[in-house]
Amino acid sequence: MEKNVPDKLSRPKGWDIISELLRDVRPPLSLQKLLETVLDKLHSLPWLKTENRGAILLIGSNEKLILVASHNYSDGRTAYCEQVDRDRCGCGEVVCTRKVAFMPCEGEDRFGTQGKNHVITPLLDGDKILGVMPLFVPDGHETTEAEIVFLQDLSYALSSIISRLLMEEIVQVKQLELEETKAEALQKLGVASEYRDSETGMHVMRMAYYANSIAKEMGIPDEDREHLLVAAPMHDVGKIGIPDSIMLKPGRLTEKEYTIMKDHCQIGARILNGNDNLMKTAHVIAMSHHEKWDGSGYPNGTKGEDIPILGRICAVADVFDALTSKRPYKEAWSVEKSLKLIEDDAGKAFDPMVVNAFKEALPSILRIKEIYRDDIIDPHEKLELPPLPEPGNPWIPWDDALSIGIDVVDEHHRYLFKLINDLYTAVTDNHGCRAVAQTLQALEQYTLIHFREEERMMSLYNYTRLNEHTSQHNKFCDNIAKARSELIRNPLTLGRETLLFLRSWLTNHIMKEDALLHQLSTTNSPSH
Ligand code: C2E
Ligand code: SIN
Ligand code: SIN
Ligand code: FE
Ligand code: FE
Repeated sequence: MEKNVPDKLSRPKGWDIISELLRDVRPPLSLQKLLETVLDKLHSLPWLKTENRGAILLIGSNEKLILVASHNYSDGRTAYCEQVDRDRCGCGEVVCTRKVAFMPCEGEDRFGTQGKNHVITPLLDGDKILGVMPLFVPDGHETTEAEIVFLQDLSYALSSIISRLLMEEIVQVKQLELEETKAEALQKLGVASEYRDSETGMHVMRMAYYANSIAKEMGIPDEDREHLLVAAPMHDVGKIGIPDSIMLKPGRLTEKEYTIMKDHCQIGARILNGNDNLMKTAHVIAMSHHEKWDGSGYPNGTKGEDIPILGRICAVADVFDALTSKRPYKEAWSVEKSLKLIEDDAGKAFDPMVVNAFKEALPSILRIKEIYRDDIIDPHEKLELPPLPEPGNPWIPWDDALSIGIDVVDEHHRYLFKLINDLYTAVTDNHGCRAVAQTLQALEQYTLIHFREEERMMSLYNYTRLNEHTSQHNKFCDNIAKARSELIRNPLTLGRETLLFLRSWLTNHIMKEDALLHQLSTTNSPSH
């Protein structure tokens, strides 16, 4: 192949590459894929001297440049999310000049890309600068005027693709927001139905998460589980229609009272009627969560696989939580005793497949039980939880050095690590904005619950740093809430910015502030 720079006529213009790019880069499009495709194409042009190494950085919410895609660019996993100080690098210069620029190497930069020349291309949407694309240039070559003209053309193509991606992601986030508004209203309804026997509504949350863990174990598709998580907390809304004299009765129900209580299924199903899939799921669960595998349940006495699968799953989740919790009519049972009842009832009350999945999911279920608890954390309690399957290569692994010596709090913190690693995966595996928004939502919910529980414990045990600690928690919640609301403006960078924030929070808060909490388990005793 002819390797010399061709004359102007035979050199393909940027738009030829563009049309090829538009053909090859299809949705679901990721910036990583875009970068790799571009590098591939450029590398095959004999007259353009770039290496198969480069990156895309976009301007994020705080005007910093966020690394959103990179290929052979730098080593180490941290490179997946970094921000660049615009005043201190060539990229920042290009953001200002908006012109393709050749940047000879000047020592080592922060990504460890030392000893390499770059050519940096701006990414412009009309007048608006979106970001930059630095590419490596082979040693000894200085990017020519002809190459620069070509890259300037290419910049328009890339920018239009990125703008399109931005729009698609914004649509996704908007749609999720709409769904959330509806889901939140429904969830409030579910919690309201529980207010009479628990002030926090934790039962409905636990039951929904247990059901989700079982469903995951059974391979129920993600979309159905999304509906399950929102719909399951409403399984007992029909209890709104049951008189307090029955609902709150401290002892056993008479046969007549129990007959009235059974109406809560149909009352709930009547409240939950709508045409969308979410409402249909909620309706089905309200109607079927007390049906039994052998046909001895209510309200219809439906049998076996005629009972909807989500109803069979919710039945196990509901009974496990009812047994292990204190109720006006009974004390809490131990996990062992509750587990035994469920195992004994496999094939009678419960679908044996669901009981099997429940047992497989038990490590997760027992952790959910610790997180969504009704009582105040006892700093002296020792937990013995079955091990979770090892997650493969987390971004930030849990380190036992982070243990503060209060088992329940350690368990909460481990779960926070899991959520942060989930966010990392959602961001770097290009699951799209929807997945990022969902993990942010899970993080927000977790922090609200965990912080409240930590604060209740600190307050009961007269912890002296309560105010400082609480204000740090509040700052964290503000940041997550802000991230969620800004996702719509910066859908392509925000996940990474949030990861940067979380990484520094983890070390500063858990390692320094939470570490001081361990005194609660050694010295303080509760105030009454
Ligand atoms: P719940 O308290 O949420 O209980 C849900 C289901 O868990 C019960 O459905 C039952 O299958 C199981 N469960 C709960 N506690 C026990 C228990 O001590 N032993 C056994 N073997 N299973 C248990 P079920 O029986 O159809 O009850 C539906 C709802 O009716 C209960 O919801 C609760 O709100 C009410 N309820 C049931 N029994 C009594 C009672 O004796 N007194 C009062 N005050 N309410 C009751
Ligand atoms: C970097 O490697 O720091 C970004 C590109 C550049 O400014 O050279
Ligand atoms: C959960 O799965 O939602 C919590 C427990 C865990 O898997 O860490
Ligand atoms: Fe019920
Ligand atoms: Fe904390």
